[in-house]
Amino acid sequence: MKPQDPPKTYRVKSFGCQMNVYDGERMGELLDARGLTPAADGEDADLVVLNTCHIREKAAEKIYSDIGRLTKGKTQAKAPMIAVAGCVAQAEGEEIMKRAPAVSMVVGPQAYHRLPEMLDRAAKGERATDTDMPAIAKFDSLPERRLPSGEGEGGAGARRNRFPTAFLTVQEGCDKFCTYCVVPYTRGAEISRPFADLVHEARRLVERGAREITLLGQNVNAWAGADAKGHTIGLDGLIRGLAKLPELLRIRYTTSHPNDFTEGLVRCHAEVEKLMPYLHLPVQSGSDRVLKAMNRQHTTAGYLRLLEQMRAARPDIALSGDFIVGFPGETEAEFEATLSLVDEVGYAQAYSFKYSPRPGTPAAAMDRQIAPEVMDERLQRLQARINRDQIAFNAASVGKVCDVLVERRGKFAGQWLGKSPWLQSVWFVDEAGGGLDGGGVAIGDMVRARMVEAGGNSVRGELIGAGEAVTVR
Ligand code: SAH
Ligand code: SF4
Ligand code: F3S
Repeated sequence: MKPQDPPKTYRVKSFGCQMNVYDGERMGELLDARGLTPAADGEDADLVVLNTCHIREKAAEKIYSDIGRLTKGKTQAKAPMIAVAGCVAQAEGEEIMKRAPAVSMVVGPQAYHRLPEMLDRAAKGERATDTDMPAIAKFDSLPERRLPSGEGEGGAGARRNRFPTAFLTVQEGCDKFCTYCVVPYTRGAEISRPFADLVHEARRLVERGAREITLLGQNVNAWAGADAKGHTIGLDGLIRGLAKLPELLRIRYTTSHPNDFTEGLVRCHAEVEKLMPYLHLPVQSGSDRVLKAMNRQHTTAGYLRLLEQMRAARPDIALSGDFIVGFPGETEAEFEATLSLVDEVGYAQAYSFKYSPRPGTPAAAMDRQIAPEVMDERLQRLQARINRDQIAFNAASVGKVCDVLVERRGKFAGQWLGKSPWLQSVWFVDEAGGGLDGGGVAIGDMVRARMVEAGGNSVRGELIGAGEAVTVR
């Protein structure tokens, strides 16, 4: 590769889960600290970071078409410098280097703090790969959380807060080894970031305007640490600690695993007002035989018991889950058990995927792989049930009064969008408010609204005037 001009502008494109979104933000902050600036919308960037996902085949193959698009018809001098980061980089780094000569850097999810050094090498024309896994070293060497370049600290930000919600990775990696899943290989072993670091980072996020923080981890409820007094605590202790930040109004966490649930975390939902009544708890299948073959190490009965405890602690909790259809050997009856489980739970929201065989995982080598058309048909049936329940959940919200955290403007004048405590998208019109900064509602405000009309994906709310007596919940 020829030496390249050091890039001045950059773009980070993140795919996959919220942890990649978090990593993408932190890569942006690293590049800002090096004096690069984000490319404007529609403008070509000098450096493109593809922050990739390896979870299913479609996601993983996407990077090659993206690289093709970035370099099509361009000489090396004209094409952007390309870095591949994320889970595909970790899993297939060498293959990427072979298959895509236009790629200058391959950097794994636990090594991206070294991106600046790799940039220097790339400018000299050296191609570099770093897929080491020192997860804690990464967090220790990342710069302090700051506003992305172009955003002044403080000042007018108070009324035009662009960051009312934030992600905070507290735990990384997975030791569970479900037989279909690449995450234990791409993200490495489970590690928890220290309590004090997390409180510090949360405080920074709140200073820059966060009113809601979502704690992230591949198994977020496996988080463990020691509080300021040295007492061993779990995720519930961390949540209680963060709830003390006065300006932080809402806390969420995702994704949790049924086997890492503690009574303390269930109790937290009953006792900590700032912890939102929403739980994303994947189960994958409603058949115990399939769960065993998946190495999930829990049964459907155990999962349902947990949801029961959760509902006892917080009766209005909204439930969400993940499902895989067409796992090797899944029979029609076993698939129907999944449909029954969905009927029994009544999810507010859920995600479902066709099984995708991933290289190197035990399930990819199992007999009785399911035909694609069978998977398509099962996915459609499952999604129809999930949609039905999502619509029913939104419909049941009509008439309720709740707080809405305002996240952005809508398409038409005076329209705003935000989230209910149950993670529903709520939109409303602020009749009184003028234009930008014209008074009335602003991004980052917590407003009170009555939900008046439900759709499949959103709910229409009406603002409640000050002084009107209401009860929330
Ligand atoms: N750590 C989380 C989520 C991991 S990945 C958990 O264990 O629940 C997110 C979702 O992708 C999984 O819950 C699963 O439903 C899906 N998934 C993972 N591997 C997959 C595969 N090989 N094929 C299809 N879906 C998969
Ligand atoms: Fe993957 Fe299972 Fe770990 Fe979740 S718990 S990340 S599905 S191996
Ligand atoms: Fe994808 Fe890696 Fe997340 S494989 S789902 S980006 S942990």
